[in-house]
Amino acid sequence: MLNVPIQYLFIAILNGDKYHILNFFRLNIFIVTMTIWTPTLDNTRAKYKALASAIAEAIKTGSLKPGEKLPPQRRLADALNVTIGTVTRGYLEAERQGLLEARVGSGTYVKNTGKPHSGFRAPAANADAVDMMAAFAPPGPQLEMLQRAMQGLAQDHDRLARIIDYAPELGHQEHRLRFAHWLDGEPVVMAGCNFLFTQGGQHGISVSLNALCREGDAVVTDALVFPGILAAAQNRGVKVHPVEMDEQGMVPDKLAHILAYHSPKLLYLTPNHQNPTCRQMPLARREQIVALCRQHKVMILEDDVQFVARSQKPPSLQQLAPDITLYVSSFSKRFSGAMRLGFVVVPECLFDTLRLSLRASSWTGAPLPLEWFCTWFEEGEVKALDNWLAMEMQARHRLAQEYLGTFLAATDDIDSSFNLYLPLPDGWLGHEFVEKAAKAGALVRNSDEYRVGPRPPEPAIRLCLSRPANNTELVKGLAVIRRLLEEGPELREAAL
Ligand SMILES: Cc1ncc(COP(=O)(O)O)c(C=O)c1O
Repeated sequence: MLNVPIQYLFIAILNGDKYHILNFFRLNIFIVTMTIWTPTLDNTRAKYKALASAIAEAIKTGSLKPGEKLPPQRRLADALNVTIGTVTRGYLEAERQGLLEARVGSGTYVKNTGKPHSGFRAPAANADAVDMMAAFAPPGPQLEMLQRAMQGLAQDHDRLARIIDYAPELGHQEHRLRFAHWLDGEPVVMAGCNFLFTQGGQHGISVSLNALCREGDAVVTDALVFPGILAAAQNRGVKVHPVEMDEQGMVPDKLAHILAYHSPKLLYLTPNHQNPTCRQMPLARREQIVALCRQHKVMILEDDVQFVARSQKPPSLQQLAPDITLYVSSFSKRFSGAMRLGFVVVPECLFDTLRLSLRASSWTGAPLPLEWFCTWFEEGEVKALDNWLAMEMQARHRLAQEYLGTFLAATDDIDSSFNLYLPLPDGWLGHEFVEKAAKAGALVRNSDEYRVGPRPPEPAIRLCLSRPANNTELVKGLAVIRRLLEEGPELREAAL
């Protein structure tokens, strides 16, 4: 079967057109000599089904790779000695099974599913193990705050009637005004900027990323990072380039290199209490990073969701560069995860772009949590809760120092954040430690679960000190960790 039809040759001869005569032979020879993926079909079943199974098998074994183009249907039909209709049905069947995707005008490709971040792994644990995995706010006055706010609202018929229906896209004007008062005390500059309500921090991240990036664009993150940004990037078809970190966070020289080579659209950064490494980026490092982003015309997505006492926060990146920074935060850590209330502060010139992204993902937010939050703020309860959280977390960090002090770097400033990052002594592998700890009665996370690039990080664990219900539980968990560290890793047999 010729790939360039014989009529092409006749017309070329009639016209005495040497170029097209040559071309006829060149194209046919070129295409015919190119090898194509040609499976062996199982002849006990319908041929199109056999082709779909052969495709599935080839993807499983790696002989067809994600993103690889499949042979043109006519060529595969010739190679397999079947009709073109059989190949079409086989491709359609494989497409139906989610293995292939047809791109209009381009051909059929192995679906580039990538491996979605699995969320987190849960190790096999003993039933009453102390959970120090997820960063939940420690239980304190939140429950009573919520009860009071709900009771107050339940008795205010007019207020309830005002917020029972759809809110406008940007929230009720009254809520915006009340919330703006609270924002005045936060580490953000509002001149030349605006804000949007979101349904939590993760929603803020994906609304921002979807607004600023298109499929094929790149974003830059720390080499160990909160996996929510990876999920958002993967969902948008955006590549992620990791940058090495040192004790102060992202390393400017390494960042400069990535910015120059990959021309990313966005830098995602958590300068306060980086998740998972708990690093607090000093002001000078923040300034260096902002300067690099300006030089390379890259926008910054600053994530300030994790709780840290206000007094321990240096100026935010948004305060240093409000014209190129989107600042995302939420009340999941400052109140509780059920609030699903967050916000993004955005330069005015990008406001409409973000607004469209928000509209596409949720149209509008829920007014109830906003109503509660504004009431708490006006009655001084938000400030009181912030102070309580800072004191509670400092007390918990003191306990951690007491139990794990010999394994932790010395520090003068008692941390107020939720997590503790503990590099493991020599000989430990992160996953081994996590599994042993789970069996011994403490659930913690392995640094490996936060990595972006192919290089495994130094073995370390992240302990969420805020998660145990009280100090007794926390001490129980810390004691397990200390015992394992003191025992040390099991000795491996030397390889022969
Ligand atoms: C750094 C960081 N950003 C964002 C989020 C998600 O925030 P939210 O729960 O408000 O969606 C988390 C949650 O743990 C986080 O650690």
